[in-house]
Amino acid sequence: MAKLKILTAGDPLLKKKSEKVQRIDKKTVRLLKDMAETMYAAEGVGLAAPQIGILKRLVVIDVGDGLWELINPEIVKKEGSVMSCEGCLSVPDYEGEVERAETVDCVFTDTRGRRLAVSAQGLLAIALQHELDHLDGVLFIDKAQSIMPKPKKDPLAELAQEKKQ
Ligand code: NI
Repeated sequence: MAKLKILTAGDPLLKKKSEKVQRIDKKTVRLLKDMAETMYAAEGVGLAAPQIGILKRLVVIDVGDGLWELINPEIVKKEGSVMSCEGCLSVPDYEGEVERAETVDCVFTDTRGRRLAVSAQGLLAIALQHELDHLDGVLFIDKAQSIMPKPKKDPLAELAQEKKQ
């Protein structure tokens, strides 16, 4: 497996629409594994193939309860709306408030070629909408109602704070 380089906002590939995967082969499976490794190494909850420069409809997500590997995912139903604070591995220095559907039904193909469906809510629903946007060249900063710099973690400052307590 290999860790891949994550493209950041400003790279034209992030604005492109990705193509459907026509054939699921060993390369597809390997790529999903590499995407997962890249996501975990970067401590993200999701990664879409265009973020590593590959314009294919492939997404990995793990919101803390296991890995989803999604091939040609599509949202077929949305309900409700929620505002939440989102970040993105391709926008490392910022976060923003984004309005999303509260629940979504998503259909996708798994690595064995089966077409499956998931009804999602909470963080998984938000992650699905965020990652599927990447497949259409959309970043959260394109639809956020507010964008702010991420608080920088300064390990030395944190250490100093701990000592004071
Ligand atoms: Ni993202």
